[in-house]
Amino acid sequence: MRTTEPNGEPPPPINLEFEIMVLLGGSPDGSSLAFAAWNHDMSTMQIDYDSVAEIYDLYVTADYDIPFFLEEARKIDGPVLELTAGTGRLSLPLVQAGVQLTCVDGSRGMLDVLSRKLTQRGLNAEVRCADVCQLAFPPSFRLAILPFQSFMEIVGKERQRQALAAVHACLAPGGRFICTFHNPAIRRTQVDGVLRLVGRFPTQDGTLVVSGFEQGGHPVVTRLQFLEFFGSDGQLRSKQMLPMEFAFIEKDDFDCMARQAGFHVLDLFGNYDRSPFHAERSPVMIWVLQKEESQQRQAADGAAHRR
Ligand SMILES: C[S@@+](CC[C@H](N)C(=O)[O-])C[C@H]1O[C@@H](n2cnc3c(N)ncnc32)[C@H](O)[C@@H]1O
Repeated sequence: MRTTEPNGEPPPPINLEFEIMVLLGGSPDGSSLAFAAWNHDMSTMQIDYDSVAEIYDLYVTADYDIPFFLEEARKIDGPVLELTAGTGRLSLPLVQAGVQLTCVDGSRGMLDVLSRKLTQRGLNAEVRCADVCQLAFPPSFRLAILPFQSFMEIVGKERQRQALAAVHACLAPGGRFICTFHNPAIRRTQVDGVLRLVGRFPTQDGTLVVSGFEQGGHPVVTRLQFLEFFGSDGQLRSKQMLPMEFAFIEKDDFDCMARQAGFHVLDLFGNYDRSPFHAERSPVMIWVLQKEESQQRQAADGAAHRR
């Protein structure tokens, strides 16, 4: 599966120590200390997407999940809630297909880019800056989606439970929540401290080279991502560093949290072609959850069943 998502991608190892040394601007000894300090402070960080909002679309060009979500959204008559919408990689195709979309993201910068793109194309969607763990919508949505494995950026069981409860509260009875994240068994093989190239992407006047390395993974992964801009002459123009943090989520843990939040599991796919999840092979988990119908309805169903 070709992916350019920020927390994805394998490719070839490059010189880790040299890269860190250059980026942190110090000697090999100094840089190790600086990295250790950064690593220590990661436990409660929010990824600073504002700092990459204007360049995000240059290097995040994945489209493998769009047909899947278009199909799911088309089943729904009514408003759809997209969580962690970012700059609208998925939102735009959904709105273009006629989906009545509300886009939520925690980064004002990412949403500014999304709003600009909607305006430029003459499209309409409600855009709201909010934390997924603290949503405040009436229970009106028939479908909520949290795509691109971004649930992993909600770190810690407490926050994950809050997010599930918050999404549950936005859904109409019987409404669905599609939540995606990487299969730890597969994705963890890339968490080895080795610097990997994500890709080389054309810019207006040169190339953006994105690379990164990851450490930890039990369950929290710390990732340091590098964004280097080269001119058409091949000279380095500028560099940016993006510290990231995300968490692996085990299947049984999520299953338990989702049920406790009042969902039941309709489907668990292991890829965007809807193949069933396989613990040792599937790259992702795509959970299709459903908010239980109201208690009254359940009681009525129960009574009918007993008769
Ligand atoms: C990897 S980007 C994905 C953006 C977009 N969905 C895409 O497919 O390109 C992750 C996005 O999740 C947002 N995000 C992460 N945690 C969040 C939270 N707790 N509440 C709201 N947004 C959050 C970030 O601001 C960022 O825009």
